[in-house]
Amino acid sequence: MAAAISIEGVSKTYRLYHERNQSLKGAIMRRARVRYESFAALDDVSIEIPAGETFGLIGENGSGKSTLLKCIARILRPDAGTIRTEGKISALLELGAGFHPELSGRDNVYLNGAILGLSRKELNSRFDDIVGFAGLEHFIDTPVKNYSSGMYVRLGFSVAINVDPDILLVDEVLAVGDEEFQRRCSEKFAELKHSGKTVVIVSHALGSVRNLCDEVALLEHGKLIATGPSGEVIDGYLSDVHVDRVADGEYGSRWGSGEGKIDRVEILGANGAPATDIHTGDPFTIRLHYAMSESIPQPVFGVAIQTLEGFTVTGPNTRQAGAVPDQLSGTGHVDLRVDRLMLAPGIYDLSVSLYDYSCSHAFDFRHRTMRFDVERGNPVEEHGVMALGGSWEGAVESVHP
Ligand SMILES: Nc1ncnc2c1ncn2[C@@H]1O[C@H](COP(=O)(O)OP(=O)(O)OP(=O)(O)O)[C@@H](O)[C@H]1O
Ligand SMILES: [Mg+2]
Repeated sequence: MAAAISIEGVSKTYRLYHERNQSLKGAIMRRARVRYESFAALDDVSIEIPAGETFGLIGENGSGKSTLLKCIARILRPDAGTIRTEGKISALLELGAGFHPELSGRDNVYLNGAILGLSRKELNSRFDDIVGFAGLEHFIDTPVKNYSSGMYVRLGFSVAINVDPDILLVDEVLAVGDEEFQRRCSEKFAELKHSGKTVVIVSHALGSVRNLCDEVALLEHGKLIATGPSGEVIDGYLSDVHVDRVADGEYGSRWGSGEGKIDRVEILGANGAPATDIHTGDPFTIRLHYAMSESIPQPVFGVAIQTLEGFTVTGPNTRQAGAVPDQLSGTGHVDLRVDRLMLAPGIYDLSVSLYDYSCSHAFDFRHRTMRFDVERGNPVEEHGVMALGGSWEGAVESVHP
């Protein structure tokens, strides 16, 4: 398949200025040299994106994803290397980029549409679709400075997809819209793909990237680390980040009255030793080490597992399980043992809590106290947040004897 986007040896260096007064004029006035440090946001990156593919760009904050997308959109010029693109490009790069805050949504649709190459007549005929997709009928004559960030993104995305691009570039907008809008975006991506358009998505929502993208490129400090089928690259990325993330230790917030505390949390694997790799389908134990400074009547231990987007996958506690002691004092541990961990591959955050029996008074709440990665295991299921573990029967049996 022909390449829609071909990136060859692209580097981009930013200058970081150290003068407090960053204006050139100020520097000249003071007859000082403008001091700066060069910083490579992209370092010799080469990627071929075939026409008709949905392609993901992933990597930690500051790894150069947005910079690369801006280079593809020709908003930034690389210092070295070339980028060739085939067809009309439409891009949704930053929150509200290209919107004029004082103008109404309606005027901004016309302004942006014109910038993206649509005539007034074409815009007239598409206007209702654009506003309808964004779901902003009631706000279309309001100045966009009064829009919420979700509304901005919806309108920007709606304009970007309605100009009939051959290539659509989208930077981290899926995270901003509400669930309903995210679903419509995903449907739209599927539709674009079906009609042979090329889509490049930058996102931290690895689950969505896994579902939507054929191929993924992983950037790290401006360098291309891996590129290939999305499942493989994401799994590789997850098994790498696992190590530093857990080593980071605590990063969440903590509150509670403190008469009883959860001092330490461990994730144990099959052999009862701290887990290093966790796979779908593995035995899995969360161990809560408690320390009570006084005797606590009917304490309730709980855990919650969330995705990075904040969706709570599950939140079991000892009260619902009917496992509440009359009193607890001193130190010890409580285990939540799971025979088979039915989480799909992805990154998850663990929160733990110690409550009174009414579950209204927190002795200790450790929000997002540990982050762990689940890698592909058995069952091999990679979409969504859980593995169903079902079996396929009927006509399919005859396919593989
Ligand atoms: N205009 C700029 N001037 C100087 N440095 C910049 C500029 N824009 C980006 N950078 C730096 O370049 C690096 C790459 O930034 P970029 O925005 O491409 O990262 P990213 O992968 O999109 O990150 P995120 O996931 O946070 O969106 C970062 O270290 C950033 O601080
Ligand atoms: Mg970015």
